[in-house]
Amino acid sequence: MNSPPFPIIKTLMLNGADDGIQKASFILRKGGIVAVPTETVYGLAGNGFDSCAIAKIFLAKGRPKENPLILHTDSFSKAAQLFAIDNARFYQRLEKLAYAFWPGPLTIVAQKASNVPDEVTALMPSVGVRIPRHETTLALLRELDFPLAMPSANISKRPSPTTAQHVLKTLDGRIDAVIEGGTCGVGIESTIVQIDLEQVEILRLGMITKKLLEECLLEPVIDKAHEHREKPRCPGAAFLHYAPKIASVKLINKEDAEQSWHGADMMLMRESDCAELLTKLGERPQGSITTILSDDADEFGHKLYDALYGFEAYPKAHLTVVAPPKTYLWHAIHDRLSRSVF
Ligand code: TXA
Ligand code: MG
Repeated sequence: MNSPPFPIIKTLMLNGADDGIQKASFILRKGGIVAVPTETVYGLAGNGFDSCAIAKIFLAKGRPKENPLILHTDSFSKAAQLFAIDNARFYQRLEKLAYAFWPGPLTIVAQKASNVPDEVTALMPSVGVRIPRHETTLALLRELDFPLAMPSANISKRPSPTTAQHVLKTLDGRIDAVIEGGTCGVGIESTIVQIDLEQVEILRLGMITKKLLEECLLEPVIDKAHEHREKPRCPGAAFLHYAPKIASVKLINKEDAEQSWHGADMMLMRESDCAELLTKLGERPQGSITTILSDDADEFGHKLYDALYGFEAYPKAHLTVVAPPKTYLWHAIHDRLSRSVF
């Protein structure tokens, strides 16, 4: 993308110990923006009650202004205050989900409290809230008397970052600092559910599945994540995502992988699919790249964005991804892979 007209700033690298947390807290109180680790992906944090900090986040990411941000906090009571809670059923759902999944990879959407700025929610009447599960970022949140607005810490359209190095690849010189917090454990963005409706609805798939949500809530949950591709319930789903800087990304079914085996520049597939194709067809051509990820969905998700960034070492090459199975444990991964195609 073309660089927006703002001065290039020096991006500090902070450690995840007390000293780094204090520096990050100082920057955030002054209205700056800092990339911080969470268990899903790194987030680009700013004061969620400060319109100027929020504007900086949108500018640094090149994010469409119609795409709302998630607010992050460190306790149930702080989270509950961000919603306009007006009935017992809503509160029970909130309590059950928070008890089961927070801190963790679940974002809860419901009608926003009046002190949540319109800039955060892109003028929507609802707000998304999450308590992340990462000790460094929880310690930082405990220091602050405001929630952190945090989209993924990447320039819009690129894969989400799961290491501090991924953050620097797209945001170096555009943000005040990054906290080094290691590799994100989950590696895929949170599941998003809306709970102030007749029936609870999933707006974005993540590693917390519909089945887990239903087991927790003891009521049916509707999956709306695939609906309305042009005008989705989760505004961000309308935009191109997760595209590494290479010539193209193609997603194929396993049945079609044989045709690509000897022709594709770069391939990404599961371990067992690779073993099967190797036995049947022999080695891939010399000079071609083959990246193998686990047969375990959690492990595959954990490594996916790192693999996509890894292909950027070959910017002129084309990538072919062999789709994993369509079973429910893989739904979130399918969702992200289908959005990385261009
Ligand atoms: O795991 C995550 O959720 C990460 C970490 C940093 O917490 N954050 C993240 O943020 O993925 P972002 O901005 O990259 O994606 C947030 C998605 C967007 O698609 C946005 O449209 C949607 O959440 N969203 C935010 N507020 C919403 C709301 N009130 N209603 C529906 N969708 C909402
Ligand atoms: Mg994002």
